Amino acid sequence: MKQIVAIYPGSFDPVTNGHLDLIHRGCKLFDRLIVAIARNPEKDDSLFSLEERLEMLKAMTADLENVTVDAFDGLLMTYCIRKNANAVLRGIRAVSDYEFELQMALMNRKIEPRVETVFMMPAEKYSYLSSRIVREIAAFGGPLAGLVPELVEEHLRRKVAGKRAAMLEIPTK
Ligand code: PNS
Repeated sequence: MKQIVAIYPGSFDPVTNGHLDLIHRGCKLFDRLIVAIARNPEKDDSLFSLEERLEMLKAMTADLENVTVDAFDGLLMTYCIRKNANAVLRGIRAVSDYEFELQMALMNRKIEPRVETVFMMPAEKYSYLSSRIVREIAAFGGPLAGLVPELVEEHLRRKVAGKRAAMLEIPTK
């Protein structure tokens, strides 16, 4: 029988409970799920390094047998073919996600018609959650419980403290 190998691509800067919700749903549907962090050297303003993001995702998915974590450069479709993947998993939280996701899915289909994009909805309680908003809350010392796993919360607190310390060291005129 044909095996369905899906790639769940994203920036994961950092991984949130919404991403993990989708990973748990996806790994029940697909034979294998590869969570793939996109490396974008041109626009690298990420809070966490690729290594830190890999470490957090690996720790959070260690108990899921058919889930692996990886990183990729370049086009997602090239990576899918290299990995013999036949599906891409993307999450849709609200109607506002739809336009961008539709554009990406159709463009990916044009590049590589053998790969299907599958959309899944995370639990409603995560419908307003994003990595961007989590980074912002962390930057202002706000509450992160329920938004990210404890391990990610610790990483965020440490990162924000490190940034603050670095800023205080910059001499002012
Ligand atoms: O978590 P994000 O930022 O929404 O993920 C976007 C991502 C990484 C899935 C998308 O930018 C991507 O696929 N990048 C790889 C480059 C590529 O294939 N671009 C063409 C997409 S149509």
